[in-house]
Amino acid sequence: MKGDDVMPGKLEGKVAWVSGANKGIGEGISRLFAREGAKIAMIGRTVSEGNRIAEEIVEQGGEAFFFRCDVRSEDDIKASIKETVKRYGTIDILINNAGIVDIKPLHEYTIEEWNYVMDINVRSMFLSFKYAFPYLKEHEHSYVVNLGSISSFVGQDTTPVYTTSKGAVLSLSKSIGLDYARYGIRCNCVCPGITETPMLMKHLNSADNPEEHYKKRLTRVPINKQLYPEDIAKTCLYFSCEDSSGVTATSLIIDGGYLGCAEWDAGKYE
Ligand SMILES: NC(=O)c1ccc[n+]([C@@H]2O[C@H](COP(=O)([O-])OP(=O)(O)OC[C@H]3O[C@@H](n4cnc5c(N)ncnc54)[C@H](O)[C@@H]3O)[C@@H](O)[C@H]2O)c1
Repeated sequence: MKGDDVMPGKLEGKVAWVSGANKGIGEGISRLFAREGAKIAMIGRTVSEGNRIAEEIVEQGGEAFFFRCDVRSEDDIKASIKETVKRYGTIDILINNAGIVDIKPLHEYTIEEWNYVMDINVRSMFLSFKYAFPYLKEHEHSYVVNLGSISSFVGQDTTPVYTTSKGAVLSLSKSIGLDYARYGIRCNCVCPGITETPMLMKHLNSADNPEEHYKKRLTRVPINKQLYPEDIAKTCLYFSCEDSSGVTATSLIIDGGYLGCAEWDAGKYE
């Protein structure tokens, strides 16, 4: 993806498997990692969006392909890992980004609905790691990044299964970081705050006045701006190369200061 006069990217020669790559944060990660020289296996459910983004990456000189995979399915995940290795020979970086949010009180959930969220947000991380491990352990350095949330640390209105799942993602990331350190695998959890993606829009649209609700939420962000997928992708990049050598089994919150204090009104400085 680079001209002769450009410095090599941070991920030159690496292979990255990215779930939920066809929009939002996963799209941002795929585009940034491709610019940094990685070959990207873009994993997701929506073929048209996924193929379009992969084609754009290739047109811009990067390497990427889209593979249709429902991360709830063990067979799909296995097949996506197999296809990645068939095309690119190995996997150096595993980015577990796919996730969903569901908004309703706990007592209204059926077991199927509970499992649906937990299977996408948590069980998929177990499965992708299980099948990628034989390749990750081939390298001196390899990387797992799991997408948590500020909800990995604090509660959130009417999203009981989502917050449960994100708490679990943080714990799972620590376990992988500890248990696989001896294989040269580092695993960390990236925890975004309010980030402008289709998921955020779904969440906001559940409010009576989404625009007002969004504005009000942003007044609680000390840097006084919304975050974009690129902001989160940059942190994923940090955890996916030796810039973060020595960092494992931990997390990083990217929330513009949202969790830094109990109360904040950014508007008062306008
Ligand atoms: N946007 C935010 O404000 C925010 C905040 C905190 C954490 N996060 C986390 O970041 C990650 C990405 O979120 P986003 O905001 O980009 O969401 P998004 O809804 O915009 O994108 C989610 C991606 O996951 C994919 N996905 C969902 N279910 C899937 C399945 N069964 N199989 C395969 N792919 C599936 C979707 O197709 C999509 O590509 C999620 O794990 C989310 O919980 C987002």
